Amino acid sequence: MTKHTVTLTDNKTGESIELDVLHPTQGPNAIDVTQLYKKTGMFTYDPGFMSTASCWSDITYLDGGKGLLEYRGYSIQQLAEQGSFMETCYLLLNGELPNQTEFDEFTHRVVHHTMLHEQIKRFYSGFRRDAHPMATMVGVVGALSAFYHEYMEIHDEKNRYETAVLLIAKMPTIAAWSYRYANGLPFVYPDNKLSYPDNFLHMMFSLPSEEYLADPRMSRALEVILITHADHEQNASTSTVRLAGSSEVNPFAAISAGIASLWGPAHGGANEAVVRMLMEIRDSEKPVQHFVDKAKDKTQSFRLMGFGHRVYKNYDPRATIIKELCHKILNESEVAEEHRDLLDIAMKLESVALEDEYFVSRKLYPNVDFYSGIIFLSMGIPLNMFTVMFAMARTIGWISHWHEMMGDDKTRIARPRQLYTGETSRDYPPMDKR
Ligand code: ACO
Repeated sequence: MTKHTVTLTDNKTGESIELDVLHPTQGPNAIDVTQLYKKTGMFTYDPGFMSTASCWSDITYLDGGKGLLEYRGYSIQQLAEQGSFMETCYLLLNGELPNQTEFDEFTHRVVHHTMLHEQIKRFYSGFRRDAHPMATMVGVVGALSAFYHEYMEIHDEKNRYETAVLLIAKMPTIAAWSYRYANGLPFVYPDNKLSYPDNFLHMMFSLPSEEYLADPRMSRALEVILITHADHEQNASTSTVRLAGSSEVNPFAAISAGIASLWGPAHGGANEAVVRMLMEIRDSEKPVQHFVDKAKDKTQSFRLMGFGHRVYKNYDPRATIIKELCHKILNESEVAEEHRDLLDIAMKLESVALEDEYFVSRKLYPNVDFYSGIIFLSMGIPLNMFTVMFAMARTIGWISHWHEMMGDDKTRIARPRQLYTGETSRDYPPMDKR
């Protein structure tokens, strides 16, 4: 391919430099500015990374204009309809779908890592019972680095792969136990006979006194939610994992940083915020229009939670899948029926917003978090566990990106620069002169 460059001219000095244009296999080209500072003494300025690609990646592609999402080239719709979460994990980590032997071997490895070091149980009791389970997750996942020292050899590819398997395996146990601890319930050990979603539901809802059998409709719904949340290229939490990991910190610390970033309501915390908002609308008995108007009012901090996305300027394909799933669950399950009022409000909100000039002109559509919370409620998952569910699903995405980054010889410690706006140099005044 012939080299493609752009010329940058300083209109003050008239000096020009050529910058290379980089071509990914899909998506917009990028201007390589890595040499810019060296050549011109100038930085680029891009808070929030609106126009900045921070790495090369083979894992996930999304086209926000078309509403397209692919893992390793496979569409999210096909994966959600035909695949399992274990296949998705293998695909994200290895680049290809597994054949039967590879699938069996991978599943066997995951299943045999689901237990936690027995001492981690005691770690939980250091938290207040009313701690948000995301706070517990950040702490316990970070603490894994104090338990699994043998997985710290981050420059060994085999070791990194084992860490990925270990994390995918342990995350449901850590997640379920954060719920059990908060509710004063005994910890339930994983059951290796069960599928990944069933095992999580078992650890959440089994009692020593009563056998729990997961409803197959809920297991499948959870499987689809795990697949659709598994990765989303360089979102805030994945970028956090990459940034933390770039200092060559151990992977448990890097994933713990990712969990912390996911927690915020502008990111994964939105699934909890959506249901709280739908409940508020229901309990207020005010029309949906009132809340749409409030979201448009720039004097208020209120936003329609589960609406809008940095990249999607079209319907989020994950939201389409999850909305259909939500309808299915509510139509098929008597238990879920009690949450129909929230689905009705969500649908009304969506239809009012999508006809409103404010949302249309800004291309604000429902995102992945808009309908997922209603499904979680139908499964019996409490509100404060919603973002934990997201973290459990996203772990494979985080660890796949970390694995890719650590094997990439272009990786350097991530160190953005700044435009300083503070005081210029001045003398230190003695106390009586201040
Ligand atoms: N409700 C009302 N207005 C909104 C919303 C919303 N949910 N989202 C964006 N806008 C408006 C902004 O006020 C802004 O308006 P302006 O141009 O008049 O100033 C415009 O749309 C662009 O919004 P930004 O905040 O600049 O877009 P950005 O890409 O930075 O933010 C974000 C994206 C954080 C997702 C935002 O849309 C939002 O806060 N949504 C609600 C929270 C949410 O659902 N988060 C989950 C995202 S998906 C995920 O992380 C898994």
